[in-house]
Amino acid sequence: MSDNIEGKVVVITGASSGLGEASARLLSAQGASVVLGARREDRIKSLADELTAGGGRALAVTTDVTHRDQVKKLVDAAVQACGRIDVMINNAGLMPQSLLEHLKIDEWDRMIDVNIKGVLYGIAAALPYMQKQKAGHIINVSSVAGHRVGPGTAVYAATKYAVRALSEGLRQEVKPYNIRTTVISPGAVATELPDNVTDPDAAARIHKFYADLAIPADSFARAVAFAMSQPDDVDINEILYRPTRQEI
Ligand SMILES: NC(=O)c1ccc[n+]([C@@H]2O[C@H](COP(=O)([O-])OP(=O)(O)OC[C@H]3O[C@@H](n4cnc5c(N)ncnc54)[C@H](OP(=O)(O)O)[C@@H]3O)[C@@H](O)[C@H]2O)c1
Repeated sequence: MSDNIEGKVVVITGASSGLGEASARLLSAQGASVVLGARREDRIKSLADELTAGGGRALAVTTDVTHRDQVKKLVDAAVQACGRIDVMINNAGLMPQSLLEHLKIDEWDRMIDVNIKGVLYGIAAALPYMQKQKAGHIINVSSVAGHRVGPGTAVYAATKYAVRALSEGLRQEVKPYNIRTTVISPGAVATELPDNVTDPDAAARIHKFYADLAIPADSFARAVAFAMSQPDDVDINEILYRPTRQEI
């Protein structure tokens, strides 16, 4: 069991696959109680069942992060079941890349709704509890795309730059409440993320990029565990990591 992870109550959005699922598995193995949110109920229920059967404590709450009432319900359920919330991981996101000239406006809306507003709703749901507790940790997921922009990534990158801006503002504002904030910006990690690219040119490029160098999702889970496991007076604010072979 790791210091400062065992016994913590951790809410994870986007826990049905990829980085969220990997975090749930690692943190549960290290003794945290995990509360899993995502839209695919079957996935989070079977993950919760598996973690519980393995001796962990896990709860699944079907959640669409574009609905603020559902995100509040997710966090409220964690507090009801476990008595508190120690860590909120705002991880749900999608990356349907395309050139702006292709005018995939519905996908722009979707990325803004999930990647930005979903994170804000997570902060809104967790913050009042953490303020009252005078303790907590909010972990937001940005990306290498939150540090640099390329053709086809404009809207996705804009949402991930926004996550970094929100995280830095949050960091400064929550000092009086003893709340820690971390923004994690991964490079290419093997998950289902490339599967929601509908633009054929972008899809071909991204699938090849990921097939060539993506690293396993437990890389992200370890970054989460590193930030969480610091002593309470140490706040790891930013983690940017890539596959060793990734140039951009
Ligand atoms: N993989 C990478 O290379 C990489 C790199 C940098 C940043 N990221 C970021 O990492 C985060 C996780 O992505 P991933 O790589 O793990 O991809 P993934 O395997 O596709 O997982 C995305 C997760 O987000 C959830 N999600 C999507 N829309 C949602 C909604 N409206 N409400 C609730 N949950 C929703 C999905 O669950 P449901 O479909 O079941 O709702 C799923 O659990 C994203 O924010 C992504 O931008 C990933």
